[in-house]
Amino acid sequence: MADGTKDTKSSNQMWGGRFASGPDAIMEEINASIGFDKKLFAQDIRGSIAHATMLAHQGIISGDDKDKIVHGLNTILSEIESGNFEFSRQLEDIHMNVEARLAALIGPAAGRLHTARSRNDQVALDFRLWVKEELQKTEAMLTNLIAAFLDRAEEHAESVMPGFTHLQTAQPVTFGHHCMAYVEMFGRDRSRVRHAIEHLDESPIGAAALAGTGYPIDRHMTAKALGFREPTRNSIDTVSDRDFAIEFLSIAAICGMHLSRLAEEIVIWSTPQFGFVRLSDAFSTGSSIMPQKKNPDAAELVRAKTGRINGSLVALLTIMKGLPLAYSKDMQEDKEQVFDAAESLELAIAAMTGMVRDMTVNTARMKAAAGSGYSTATDLADWLVREVGLPFRDAHHVTGRAVALAESKGCDLAELLLTDLQAINAAITDKVYDVLTVEASVASRKSFGGTAPSEVRKQIAYWRARN
Ligand code: ARG
Repeated sequence: MADGTKDTKSSNQMWGGRFASGPDAIMEEINASIGFDKKLFAQDIRGSIAHATMLAHQGIISGDDKDKIVHGLNTILSEIESGNFEFSRQLEDIHMNVEARLAALIGPAAGRLHTARSRNDQVALDFRLWVKEELQKTEAMLTNLIAAFLDRAEEHAESVMPGFTHLQTAQPVTFGHHCMAYVEMFGRDRSRVRHAIEHLDESPIGAAALAGTGYPIDRHMTAKALGFREPTRNSIDTVSDRDFAIEFLSIAAICGMHLSRLAEEIVIWSTPQFGFVRLSDAFSTGSSIMPQKKNPDAAELVRAKTGRINGSLVALLTIMKGLPLAYSKDMQEDKEQVFDAAESLELAIAAMTGMVRDMTVNTARMKAAAGSGYSTATDLADWLVREVGLPFRDAHHVTGRAVALAESKGCDLAELLLTDLQAINAAITDKVYDVLTVEASVASRKSFGGTAPSEVRKQIAYWRARN
């Protein structure tokens, strides 16, 4: 400049960097949320239509202005849906983008829409509506995943596999029973989703900036029009609250953890060493250098997406933890976390549902593995308690000696000679061989929730009826 001072509107050498036009541009970039909150356009327009309709019903605006507003908002909805809407970053967010376009379409009547509301209750409404729909979608997707597991469980109610603790062979179980464990896990996730829908089912609109409003609005009317059970009960809490978003993220994190454990099992089961399952080509990839390979990439990515979802949960908890009531702009950072987690969760559930439905189960491999590692040792001990009358601790000791003997001979428990077993405990008869097979082992575990095929079928019937 002529006086030697720098034009702050142009790039500042010290800190302006890529911001060609100085502090205004930095402010715009940090402040604007339109880049991501445009996702809320449908909810924003629905909310505004309900609000304008209520304002007219209450005589706060004229019926004529309401008609113009509703018509204009519907025009904007189709403009956005057909890709004929220009979003502007100067207009900051979805709320102001829609309102500015409304003014261009219908003139001064547009200015009456924002009567008795604030962007604080508006954003709380839009985001709640979005999260509610996402939870409903999640509920349906979990139902699909559960159905996939129920089908596989039914098909494999009798298929024996090794059950593990510490990833060491423990006792034989059925693959159907293992599948039903996931039905329980995803069933709990679905219950959490249903509870979260109940929790958030209150309408924020009408809380205004934070204190409510002096206009004679009818919050019950807007709540009903927008499909909420009732309006929220405290205007300060209404604009401060993001529990519904945090609850969504918590549920996503827990469900993600379940999906990741399933993914991990599929990664293990599909190794040539285990060979329990074979993934379909649709959910695996080859290697660019090793022609023999079939990699469980989709399962690995599901395992990784869980990390992302956890990150979003921690991010939003951290954003919210120090905020004084009521609204602070920090809260604008809530949306990207939820949008990203929702996308990851949807993809992860879809991928696991596909994998579970498509994978080929190698029952022969599972059965062979089920019998290795002396997995029926507990059955032998139980038999000694039941048939010989030994205290369990003594039976445990006798069984330990039998396992040691089998180990030294390099054979299974069922392959030990009766005379060998009788040398350890004279009361053993050849009836013992009935419990040493893996089939007999699983069939005997008929306790409620146990692995016996008859029990597994009962649990499948329970879940099919429950839904
Ligand atoms: N874009 C804002 C958000 O996402 C909307 C609310 C703005 N309210 C305000 N008082 N500046 O949170």
